[in-house]
Amino acid sequence: MNNDIRSQTDKLRQQHDVIISETGDWVLLRHDDVGAAALDDQRFSSQVSRFLQVPNGLDGAEHQRFRALIERYLSPEALTPYLPVFERIAADLVASLSKGSIIDAVSEIGSVFAVRAQCAWLSWPTELEPKLLQWMRDNHQAARNKDSAKMAQVAKDFDDIIHSIIRPDRAPATFTTATSATATKTDSVTGRLCHERIEGRDLTEAELVSILRNWTGGDLGPIALCVGVITVHLLQHPEQVRVLASAEDSKLEAMIDEILRIDDPFVSNRRITTCPVRIGEHQLPSETRVQLNWTSANRDESVFDSNTFAPQKHRSDSLVYGIGKYVCPGRLLATWQLRTITRALLNNISNIALAPDAILTREQLPLGGYYRVPVILS
Ligand code: HEM
Repeated sequence: MNNDIRSQTDKLRQQHDVIISETGDWVLLRHDDVGAAALDDQRFSSQVSRFLQVPNGLDGAEHQRFRALIERYLSPEALTPYLPVFERIAADLVASLSKGSIIDAVSEIGSVFAVRAQCAWLSWPTELEPKLLQWMRDNHQAARNKDSAKMAQVAKDFDDIIHSIIRPDRAPATFTTATSATATKTDSVTGRLCHERIEGRDLTEAELVSILRNWTGGDLGPIALCVGVITVHLLQHPEQVRVLASAEDSKLEAMIDEILRIDDPFVSNRRITTCPVRIGEHQLPSETRVQLNWTSANRDESVFDSNTFAPQKHRSDSLVYGIGKYVCPGRLLATWQLRTITRALLNNISNIALAPDAILTREQLPLGGYYRVPVILS
């Protein structure tokens, strides 16, 4: 069976504005509809889950308050000090990769880099790396198997990891900053977040866990999948390797964005209608569950010609990081991480080849991109 979401939605989009998924959600496929729904936060609510999701499951003023808090951690000023850290992690990882034997670009480059970079940014102990990598594998397997009991278990496992990290950071600031030996608590991103206040009160533990889950659990997988997609692009377009390698940073970032537009592994986000809404010929009643399918919208031929690789031309229409009030606040962090790992590969590996007889296995919904990218580096 063809499980490539790109070819499936490319075909469906020719005939349908919207389709109904196995779970009964209405899936928007076209660029215009996905963009319009993302921008229309009045008629398309983000309160889709019974679980607390900060900020992405909140609406209106409450969403804006948490969003403002989060953006302070993801601004260029806040992230600039971490750029050399990401560069070093990327260089060390690429130097340590085995050359001449088969490795998987998703799990052995993407996942490891994502975990190390995110732990460094959040000041999480390096000893957590194997635990987080195991969690990523379990989470991934549960999502692939659509095993809801296992998904609930891995979600709980992840919350337990976060609880164990923030418990010491939640101790009163006066205690943690009293000596230089303990001052790191409130200097770190996690430590500072633990002492944030909103509307004159401390953040609850549930809010903190949700924010950190979003910054890690929701992000490590996509970064790893993006590394897989970028690696396949390098394999399939050897003529672009020299151009990418010699591109200055902003040009390389635009090229990576375009690679991800053509094969967006961050497939969709959900909304729920707050009133009857018309999509093409369909009238969706109030409280209809809707999916904004970014992967499909980003390949809509009415906007992106025949999906030729044209970074500058397509940049302003790309929806890889969303649009509107819920647009990805982590875009710069993701962009810098992806740029540094791509640059490290381009600068230090003279050749990336698909492993002999290897098959590039696609991911399954709800994930996109590749499951495995077996390559040999030299
Ligand atoms: C390549 C990696 C990434 C991709 C493709 C991506 C994509 C997206 C997209 C499409 C949205 C919009 C969701 C919506 O409209 O419902 C979003 C939201 C979000 N992203 Fe990312 N993201 C990435 C990495 C990150 C990183 C590194 C972080 C933070 C550490 C992050 C944090 C968030 C948060 C908190 C939201 C919710 C924003 C809100 O509710 O206002 N993302 N992301």
